Amino acid sequence: MNDQPEKILVAVAWPYANGPRHIGHVAGFGVPSDIFARYHRLKGNDVLMVSGTDEHGTPIMVTADREGVSPKELADRASAIIRDDLRRLGISYDLFTRTTTSNHHEVVRDVFRTLWEKGAIVEQTTVGAFSAATGRTLPDRYIEGTCPICGFGEARGDQCDNCGNQLDPIELIEPRSKIDGEPPLFRETSHLFLDLPAFAERLADWIGAQGHWRQNVKRFSLELVKELRRRPVTRDLDWGVRVPVPGYEEREDKRIYVWIDAVVGYLSASIEWAANRGLPDAWRDWWQNPDARHYYFMGKDNIVFHSVIWPSQLLGYGEGGVYGGDRGALQLPYDIVSSEYLTMEGKQFSTSRDVVIYVGDVLDRYSADALRFYLTAAGPETQDTDFTWAEFVRRVNDELLANWGNLVHRVLTSAYRTFGHVPAAGTLDDADRAVLAAVEAGFDSVGDLLAKARFKAALAETMRLSSQVNQYVSEQEPWAVIKADPARAGTILYVALRCIDNLKVLFTPFLPFSSQKLHELLGHEGWLAGPLEIREVTESDGSRHEVLGGDYAVWVGRWQPSALRAGQVLNDPQPLYAKLDPETVIPDELARLEARASGR
Ligand code: MF3
Ligand code: ZN
Repeated sequence: MNDQPEKILVAVAWPYANGPRHIGHVAGFGVPSDIFARYHRLKGNDVLMVSGTDEHGTPIMVTADREGVSPKELADRASAIIRDDLRRLGISYDLFTRTTTSNHHEVVRDVFRTLWEKGAIVEQTTVGAFSAATGRTLPDRYIEGTCPICGFGEARGDQCDNCGNQLDPIELIEPRSKIDGEPPLFRETSHLFLDLPAFAERLADWIGAQGHWRQNVKRFSLELVKELRRRPVTRDLDWGVRVPVPGYEEREDKRIYVWIDAVVGYLSASIEWAANRGLPDAWRDWWQNPDARHYYFMGKDNIVFHSVIWPSQLLGYGEGGVYGGDRGALQLPYDIVSSEYLTMEGKQFSTSRDVVIYVGDVLDRYSADALRFYLTAAGPETQDTDFTWAEFVRRVNDELLANWGNLVHRVLTSAYRTFGHVPAAGTLDDADRAVLAAVEAGFDSVGDLLAKARFKAALAETMRLSSQVNQYVSEQEPWAVIKADPARAGTILYVALRCIDNLKVLFTPFLPFSSQKLHELLGHEGWLAGPLEIREVTESDGSRHEVLGGDYAVWVGRWQPSALRAGQVLNDPQPLYAKLDPETVIPDELARLEARASGR
């Protein structure tokens, strides 16, 4: 346990509320952030983990139009599904809220207004593309036409995928809307722009000094900072946060650009978390405390918003606004942990790019820990990877179950049947001391890797320790020793149980549900790390919304060696993991994907 708990903000990318999330999403932002947060909580640090559903802007509007519902209806429905999927997956947010709350709107407006007042947001006139049918803005990527450079017929408004050139929609020959096929209208429109060049120098200095960032994130961000242009932060839409600037405020057709609103969610959710707890200033310990460290988790397509745009907003806000006041500048990100992409059955389905596997569907049929294990062991931490059901089954059966599940099962069964409780240990011999020391060293070796967000390596190290204990048990054969020397068998089982009790904690960040189960089988009480719950919150203006959270202060798990007590009564062992039958799981799942690919 630390003497001085650290304040750690775990800031997790906000999933769009335009439908259920697929396993690629949770591989990118969900599981890694949760492993990290759980580790730091076990370690005794003060973690604040926030996120929510991202509910404004074009992504929501386009889907809502397609489904014939209002953006709000779509967002309500999708947000509820996402929240419940994340709960079932055990992503232990302190607060997972929504961007449609009054609190979020107020905080976003305060940040925006302050940036405007300080001159970091300025007005400019541009030519924009609008849908002829609805009068709404057509985002660049929703416009298609012939590339003026190479003649490719399906170039997008932002770039041509054939020749790779960046384009402006107005340059396209015979432009048309991807939504209804009609040519867009181009007309002049005023927008507010974030003056990014004004922050270029400070950003470059700050990013340059981040020696601990992953190289790709740092290099990419430094490149971005070299060519910063003013960036529009308003849109011609009627779904989003109203623009708190004279001349824009009352307009029904102007809203804040969704990304500018969403990133402020990290701050607004922290403020909401504090308010919900009845400690309205508690968020300041993370945001206006120079010792606090902020870790952001996301997929790689989100990097620019977290390393350039949001930091510019934070720098511009300074000590201003209602929330900043004169109580200190807001903290910049400490680390930006981005993952690569997960494709799904890429070989099989390379022609139909829409084939995805939804989190909820996986959790209906398999355990959360099986999915968490796969996504950590074989996920896109540092390179794009492909999820296959065959590999899922193999990893679960041949690694999780064959190594860790099997170790737990044979030790618990033997100890339970022979003693019914944790046996007392006699004198420990070299082998006993060596295996205990090796596993206990895991609190440092696994902990160091987790603190550096090297999750795959941390899991591999934990699995290595589990193998070592398996080997110890195989060599010592307590079940064979029992007749001739019950006292020695008791010592071996005591050592093995203590190793398992340690490994239980080391595995908790990755496999919280099965660690809890094991915790109970070992006769311990309380929550090692859990549970999560969905609650309803009422805001000061009377509006209500659901949030996902939990009371993690009651956790009894500690990132420290076990002090398992002889005599503790064991419970009747149950297997931690179900074995998956490759003969049914793989063909069934592929058939489901096939059905989805062909739209059935
Ligand atoms: N909704 C975005 C996506 O799914 C992520 C938003 S992250 C935030 O790509 F910080 F802006 F909220
Ligand atoms: Zn081209």
